[in-house]
Amino acid sequence: MGDEPVMATNDDASECKRGAVQLGYWQDSYITSFVKHIEKRAPEINRGYFARVKGVERFVQKFLSKAGSLAQIVNFGAGYDTLYWRLKEEGIHISNYVEIDFPNVTSSKCYMIKRNKELLDIIHDQDGEVKFSSTDMHSGNYHCIGVDIRNLSLLETKLQQAEVNYSSPTLFLAECVLVYIENDCVNRLLQWIASKFKSGLFINYEMCNINDTFGDVMLGNLRARGCNLAGISSCKNIDTQKARFLLNGWQGTKAWDMVQIYYNLPACERQRIEKIEFLDEQELLIQLFQHYCICIGWLGQDFTDVNFEEC
Ligand SMILES: C[S@@+](CC[C@H](N)C(=O)[O-])C[C@H]1O[C@@H](n2cnc3c(N)ncnc32)[C@H](O)[C@@H]1O
Repeated sequence: MGDEPVMATNDDASECKRGAVQLGYWQDSYITSFVKHIEKRAPEINRGYFARVKGVERFVQKFLSKAGSLAQIVNFGAGYDTLYWRLKEEGIHISNYVEIDFPNVTSSKCYMIKRNKELLDIIHDQDGEVKFSSTDMHSGNYHCIGVDIRNLSLLETKLQQAEVNYSSPTLFLAECVLVYIENDCVNRLLQWIASKFKSGLFINYEMCNINDTFGDVMLGNLRARGCNLAGISSCKNIDTQKARFLLNGWQGTKAWDMVQIYYNLPACERQRIEKIEFLDEQELLIQLFQHYCICIGWLGQDFTDVNFEEC
């Protein structure tokens, strides 16, 4: 199997996000710059994306409040993610922001950024010029680099070009990415990060509890689109998700399924979005939430008390 179907999952995720934003689930002024196409999705899917985006955002905020002005973000399999621009809009300072994806994906992202004054102005406001190649772009503190993250030596070279600082507290993000990567490659990546970075937090959002009928249907749909789920065995349950951090030299780990995450989001926010679309039955949504999780891992002492419950 080639990598094209895996790259195409970015189109699907971005279209789903754009559709949910359009309906008012959350605000994102930049997603329309990357995604023109909208397809109507089921209310369960929209609520699932709401929980995903808001859940991840909550951990990003927790990281930033602890990391301070040296904070650095490395987003693996970033696709058309807009977090860089959303943080800038909120006036949040990041010392360095690096997005990584396959070169085919980053080249189209770079192309869209290059032709969009609003996106460019926000990057520019940092300092100096923006350098483009066909697959990469580098500015003062924003870098978009095309590399297969299974290729560690090229990844390391590209991160150097992106001026990643191994001493800065670093947030690693992976939203529905590691499941497409062979376990030994993910293990090597996690070991490499643990050996290089002094202080960091990894936020991984992806599937869990896949060994039931619902999981079979979910995986069957992805496989039918030609996606090789090479890392699926780490998604067996919450424990397998956490284990890979501990086995690969990370100091600690915690994980929550999306039922826990959703019901710990502010009640007023949930009530607001639950009025956007009528849900025939709650059961399907709960099943969906039971099959996804957020797993965090940390390096060093700075992030040991990051939690979700007390928000
Ligand atoms: C489901 S999409 C998610 C995109 C984005 N993280 C989001 O949540 O909107 C998965 C992304 O991971 C990227 N990806 C998967 N395997 C990769 C690899 N080995 N190297 C680089 N990117 C990869 C795909 O190209 C795709 O953009």
